[in-house]
Amino acid sequence: MVRFSNSWSIFPILVQGVFGKSLSHVKRNDTSTFARNLLQESMSWMDMYYDADAGYLYSLSAKALTHETRASAWYASGLLARNEGNDVEQAVKIIRNVIDGQHKNVSSQWFGDYQIYPEEPTVGTEQYPPKIYNSWDPNWRGFVGTTFVLMLEEFPELIPHDLTKYMLESLYNTSIGDSYRVGGVDNDNLYPAYSNPSIMRAFVTGWVGRKLNESNMTIAGENYATEVIDLFNRDNTLSEFNSGTYAGVSLFALTLWAKYMPESSVMGQNGGRMIKYTWASLASLYNARLKNVSGPWDRSYGFDMQRYLSILALQMWTLVGKENAPVHPKPYAMGHKDDFAIGPLIAILAPFHNSLVENTTLSALHSFPGTHTVKTSAFSQPFDTYPRNITAWISPDLTIGAETFSENVIGGPAKNPNSFNPAVVQWARKDGTVGFLTLYAQVMELDAIASERTLNLTYPSGNSSSSFSFLVGTNSKNGKRDVASWSDVEGVKVDVKGTVDPAYSVSFNGIVGGAGSPINDFEFWNFTYKMPPGSTDIPQVLLNFELS
Ligand SMILES: *[C@@H]1O[C@H](CO)[C@@H](O)[C@H](O)[C@H]1NC(C)=O
Ligand SMILES: *[C@@H]1O[C@H](CO)[C@@H](O)[C@H](O)[C@H]1NC(C)=O
Ligand SMILES: *[C@@H]1O[C@H](CO)[C@@H](O)[C@H](O)[C@H]1NC(C)=O
Ligand SMILES: *[C@@H]1O[C@H](CO)[C@@H](O)[C@H](O)[C@H]1NC(C)=O
Ligand SMILES: *[C@@H]1O[C@H](CO)[C@@H](O)[C@H](O)[C@H]1NC(C)=O
Ligand SMILES: *[C@@H]1O[C@H](CO)[C@@H](O)[C@H](O)[C@H]1NC(C)=O
Ligand SMILES: *[C@@H]1O[C@H](CO)[C@@H](O)[C@H](O)[C@H]1NC(C)=O
Ligand SMILES: *[C@@H]1O[C@H](CO)[C@@H](O)[C@H](O)[C@H]1NC(C)=O
Ligand SMILES: *[C@@H]1O[C@H](CO)[C@@H](O)[C@H](O)[C@H]1NC(C)=O
Ligand SMILES: *[C@@H]1O[C@H](CO)[C@@H](O)[C@H](O)[C@H]1NC(C)=O
Ligand SMILES: *[C@@H]1O[C@H](CO)[C@@H](O)[C@H](O)[C@H]1NC(C)=O
Repeated sequence: MVRFSNSWSIFPILVQGVFGKSLSHVKRNDTSTFARNLLQESMSWMDMYYDADAGYLYSLSAKALTHETRASAWYASGLLARNEGNDVEQAVKIIRNVIDGQHKNVSSQWFGDYQIYPEEPTVGTEQYPPKIYNSWDPNWRGFVGTTFVLMLEEFPELIPHDLTKYMLESLYNTSIGDSYRVGGVDNDNLYPAYSNPSIMRAFVTGWVGRKLNESNMTIAGENYATEVIDLFNRDNTLSEFNSGTYAGVSLFALTLWAKYMPESSVMGQNGGRMIKYTWASLASLYNARLKNVSGPWDRSYGFDMQRYLSILALQMWTLVGKENAPVHPKPYAMGHKDDFAIGPLIAILAPFHNSLVENTTLSALHSFPGTHTVKTSAFSQPFDTYPRNITAWISPDLTIGAETFSENVIGGPAKNPNSFNPAVVQWARKDGTVGFLTLYAQVMELDAIASERTLNLTYPSGNSSSSFSFLVGTNSKNGKRDVASWSDVEGVKVDVKGTVDPAYSVSFNGIVGGAGSPINDFEFWNFTYKMPPGSTDIPQVLLNFELS
């Protein structure tokens, strides 16, 4: 049995409304209406999926009327923020349900984690084996746990006393469960370099430790945070670098560090600074004309931020307004749209978070500052043998970004070639849409340098069986439907040199046909270069781009 002291101090009640008049001191453009819009739009969308009888949201991806835990917790935070009609009553019901469904066997690896969906069989039975990131997802401790803390911090007066206790018990268990996570053990992959869940774990553990006077937990949170901070300080970058989805989660979690942890914590001390640097780095790579962050992307769930929903784009929505952000007018029609459910959390934190973003950063999100290059680095232990060197050349209508690396896996630390995009080119097309080209991740070692109009790629340990596959986006709606060579690709002229065989193949991966399936919901043309048979050269290819 876990025992709690009966008398924790309820944190001081903060502003009455997150978007209340207390924000009238906000300097610069008043962004609070942007955040309010995000809250309203994401909530109206989720309202359509809410099953009040069950006290859960239906699956947002229409899985035959089953329900979903994480999105329900996010929705509950929005209900508390909106606080109209019986919103609070529904939030209370959801929170209880989510905790009722929390895994309770302290000896199991998934202890303190939350169900993926309430209809699921018992994880760990013969028929439903415990498969990490499948039948249970260790990161949901962080996603749900941070949401609970946010609700307790922002809306303490709306949460009944007995539910507050139940949430703290739940958070205590989730922190214990998170302490079981050690990268490389039991198939877990939580190293401090896995930025988004690391930042969440340090926060929840540290916050719960302080709240419940569990000094071991407080210390564990501080220690984990210190490892994350040390990695960050190397070059002021997150290890999980530049990812539309996960940079958004990391920024969200760093905001919790900065807002809710005291100055006596390394999290309180460093959170704000890390947010500033992370945004400065993202802004240096952002092209406001293309409404896209240039590559390389360590983990991306799409190839055009205007066509898939990224959490980073929701943060930009609160900073520059929806029309100026990489968000489609109908966000729920975009790829990876389920992440729109995190909208309430981003909106609730926006007034505080946005105050940490510097003017120059904000200005780069509004308008392109002019052609420039970027040089930086990021380090993901234990996968990288040396820090990944990142170079980017960003011009008004053409951006090229790439990273040199040597890793012990293919597809980045997540071992996912579909999301690891180490070399990327984007260009503006006449109709205002964006074309893209990304190198498909096939090797453990790549030398990649982006410079003016060129991308230079080498496989230092490649051989005659190596090949370079470039995934190229489909032409615009009114452009050519068929692509058989570079000259069919809209908006850009591509010149290719190198030790590769100049003859290349082109195939198509489409929604309902072609050589294979789309990746991250995106159809693409696959341009593949092989080495000449029997070649003893190091595989190398130099691409030159001219707008056309
Ligand atoms: C935690 O400790 C402080 C100081 O020792 C005490 O004032 C507070 O009541 C304690 N809180 C809990 C939840 O035990
Ligand atoms: C304020 O908004 C305008 C456009 O609405 C933008 O051009 C300007 O850069 C913004 N200024 C700041 C400091 O955000
Ligand atoms: C940021 O811009 C606002 C006006 O848009 C100005 O009041 C403020 O002083 C600027 N801050 C810095 C640090 O330059
Ligand atoms: C709890 O988990 C342990 C370790 O997986 C297992 O041996 C035990 O049977 C479980 N207990 C219950 C009641 O399911
Ligand atoms: C927390 O874990 C204990 C086992 O250590 C379990 O008895 C209790 O029900 C759990 N609480 C919740 C809210 O899941
Ligand atoms: C805290 O950690 C110490 C050292 O590992 C251990 O001896 C002690 O039992 C722990 N206390 C609690 C309450 O878990
Ligand atoms: C825009 O940037 C995001 C990463 O932030 C990426 O996922 C997307 O694919 C990019 N779009 C294009 C057209 O390259
Ligand atoms: C990475 O960049 C640094 C600084 O420019 C340089 O010293 C180092 O040699 C580079 N490493 C690799 C592997 O390219
Ligand atoms: C491309 O990279 C290779 C290997 O690093 C180098 O030998 C070559 O000079 C580079 N080419 C250009 C044009 O920079
Ligand atoms: C090239 O390298 C791969 C992977 O190291 C290896 O499997 C393959 O046999 C090599 N091919 C040749 C022709 O040496
Ligand atoms: C691209 O085409 C090549 C050559 O046909 C093929 O080997 C490779 O698997 C394809 N890549 C993807 C990601 O579909």
